[in-house]
Formats: sequence, C-alpha cells, structure tokens
Amino acid sequence: MPTQTKSKTSAATASAKLRESRNDMSPKNRAAVCEVLNATLADMTDLASHCRHVHWNTRGRSFMTYHKLFELLTDMVREPLDEIAERITALGGFAQGTVQRAAAATNLKDLPDSFDDPLKAVAALADSVANCAGRVRASIDIAAEKHDDAGSADLLTAISRSLDKGLWLLDAHGA
Ligand SMILES: [Fe+2]
Repeated sequence: MPTQTKSKTSAATASAKLRESRNDMSPKNRAAVCEVLNATLADMTDLASHCRHVHWNTRGRSFMTYHKLFELLTDMVREPLDEIAERITALGGFAQGTVQRAAAATNLKDLPDSFDDPLKAVAALADSVANCAGRVRASIDIAAEKHDDAGSADLLTAISRSLDKGLWLLDAHGA
C-alpha cells in the first residue's frame, strides 16, 4: 500500500472515533460529518501553507502587490480553521489538527520552490484554491443531504463562499 494512502486511512480511522454526546444526531451521521470536516480541515490547513509559501517565495514585477495579495489570501483561508475544528469536537469527534496529519490527508498538490514570475504564482495558487473549493462545495451536500446536518452544511457553505471570493481575487489578475 502506498505510504500516502496508508496515512490517509489511519487519519480517517482516527477521525472516525467519537465521544459520547447529548447531541441528537445519530453517531453514524456525526462520525461521517466529522470525516468530511477533517478532510476540509486538512485541505484548508495545507491551503493556508500554500498562500504563505507564495507570499514568501515569489519575486518579480510589482512584488509588493502580490506579496500583499498572498497575505490577504492567507488570512482568508486561516480564518475558518478554528470554527471547522470546533465543529468537529462539538459533534464528538477529534480534530486532526497537527501539520503532520494535514500533510497526510491533504488533497492538494505541492508547489514549486519559488516563482520568478508573479503571475505563475497566482495561477498555481488559484489551482490550489479551486481544488479545495470544489471539495468543500461537494461536502455541503454530503453534510446536508446524506447526513442531515444543516449546521455543518452552513459552515461549509460559508467557507465555500470565501474560497470562491479568494479565487476571484486571484483570477482577476489574469494569470
Ligand atoms: Fe509577511
């Protein structure tokens, strides 16, 4: 079994454990939604690192414009991390919060070491944001329709809307 698949499996098993709760959702639905939210937590944690990576490692024309843009994106992506993690724990789950766990579970592709053309950094980060946004969008229906959890669907909808805005901020640069 490839290492990454094995890591993802063990991360998924860990996140499937549940504490007892007075929450009236079924344990099955709570566990399933925690899986979805932990996948989102991993992707968003990695995406925040992508934003930071291009903030640090992009050079070229209009440097400060892009440096600030990537800082803004970092803040947008980091902002909901605590809410995702605390929704997981509110459902009785365990937030997979370490960088190692995010690295094992992320669905994003890693980025090159550096960018000498800021527009190439914008395009690479836009790919990462779009990848993450697509998964979050799919998770909204999984939470709401398959597992009857409007609260988590609402949280994921807000994250989806924020990622769509982030993607627009990047796409508007024409990369
Ligand atoms: Fe900085």
